[in-house]
Amino acid sequence: MKISAISGKATQVKTDALVLGTFEGESNVPLAAEALDQAAGGVLSDVLKKGEFTGKHNQVIYLPAGENVAASRIVLTGLGKRKEYNTDQARQAVGKASAFCRERSLEHVVVWADIFLDTTVLFDELAVALVEGAILSLYKFAKYKTEPDDQGKQIAWLRVLTEDRTRLASLRKAVAYAELTSQAANRARDLTNAPSSEVTPAALAAFARNLSRRVTVKCEVMAPPELKKHNMNGILGVGQGSSNTPRFIILEHLPAKSSGGPIVLVGKGITFDSGGISIKPSAKMDQMKGDMAGAAAVLCTLDVVSQLNLPLHVVGLVPAAENLPSGTAYKPGDILRTASGKTVEILSTDAEGRLLLADALHYATGYKPQAVIDLATLTGACIIALGEHASGLLGTDRRLIEKIKRAAEITWERVWELPLWDDYAEPLKSEVADTTNTGGRPAQTIVAAKFLQKFIGDYPWAHLDIAGTFGVEKEKPYKPKGATGVGVRLLTRLLSDWRS
Ligand code: BES
Ligand code: MN
Ligand code: ZN
Repeated sequence: MKISAISGKATQVKTDALVLGTFEGESNVPLAAEALDQAAGGVLSDVLKKGEFTGKHNQVIYLPAGENVAASRIVLTGLGKRKEYNTDQARQAVGKASAFCRERSLEHVVVWADIFLDTTVLFDELAVALVEGAILSLYKFAKYKTEPDDQGKQIAWLRVLTEDRTRLASLRKAVAYAELTSQAANRARDLTNAPSSEVTPAALAAFARNLSRRVTVKCEVMAPPELKKHNMNGILGVGQGSSNTPRFIILEHLPAKSSGGPIVLVGKGITFDSGGISIKPSAKMDQMKGDMAGAAAVLCTLDVVSQLNLPLHVVGLVPAAENLPSGTAYKPGDILRTASGKTVEILSTDAEGRLLLADALHYATGYKPQAVIDLATLTGACIIALGEHASGLLGTDRRLIEKIKRAAEITWERVWELPLWDDYAEPLKSEVADTTNTGGRPAQTIVAAKFLQKFIGDYPWAHLDIAGTFGVEKEKPYKPKGATGVGVRLLTRLLSDWRS
């Protein structure tokens, strides 16, 4: 799908579908669309007056545009109530409209940006959301389908229109930005949806190496011999039950000019989490091919960061391993000596993510980073607490946390902060080692974060638990069933707006 920004009169744009949104319960044609309505012989005012189109959320219809309008059809998409409107309603509305156009094999689509503008949204953020809505909603994981589905032809060209020439430059910028971020999110979805037989730790490393062909990107991969040299026994321990051996991936964006110290992103890369000897129940175990969603987010964010050539030194760290039970697997009761020197008594081999992250967070210290953010599908408890609507956010630095919250609101990859009080470290006390790897049932998301905190260096740190947000079981307006690619848009926004 080709994507571009254009300016001109809406009545004069040749296209299969001209997409506009209307608010629920407003029977007047939007002011900016009056000329279009007139040229189209009043089709818009007609359906709105008669209540045939109510503007309800997720409602989409199309109307013939008539001979005096260059577009063949007008596609109306519901924006919901004006007082509940925000950029995400626009993202969803365009998501719905794009899927609608594809189902009908409309190959050339124009989204009229001005019509989606309201007093509560900023034009630049809105323009980004419109394009994201389209690209994210059209995603399909079709690699393993040998028969074509009946979903219609792909949209060949998507153009975003403004009638206001003075807005064209910012529209162009927004469209280019949104194209990069949402395509990267779709790549993260691909990685996360792919079976673990393909996405092994070595395959994640190969994916990372491939990105490093770009000028600003450097990639280094440690295999077991180097992991041993670095005493990364957290990573090695978790991976020792599988013949797909672990890797530690370091991907760096090093622009010619950068301000401040490095920003380190860490992503949990468990390519399959069976639970190990503390094996999981078999129901839904297939979803654990996605236990590397944090890794996918970090790698794909680095991809975008390098394409945008942001003036920041950004480092991606991905500890990757497969957690399987076998004759060589690590076991409950084992004690691992992590890279930091701290020892961990294993009470459950299913609390494996934190062991990998312990080594990576310790390794991050060497960069003297100005901030470290990790993303991990860490605890089932986070799904219970926040469901699929927000990632858990915990951290040691107020400024960093507030920055993440801001980026989360803009991208609608929402986060919710949980407390990181020391009281929550209590259940991690061990009789035989420096810490256990699990506590009891209460507050597992926070206890897991307290475990991670034991391994951080003297740097501002934030942790995102994406167990609930990395996938959806039922499709949503721009989230097809399966992986969501969560984190890519959030982190890219955070880094684009970064001020030291
Ligand atoms: N990868 C899982 C967490 C998870 C579960 C993510 C479901 C996404 C969906 C993690 O490794 C895990 O197994 N956590 C355990 C921790 C427990 C043993 C302390 C959990 O949440 O049950
Ligand atoms: Mn686990
Ligand atoms: Zn896991």
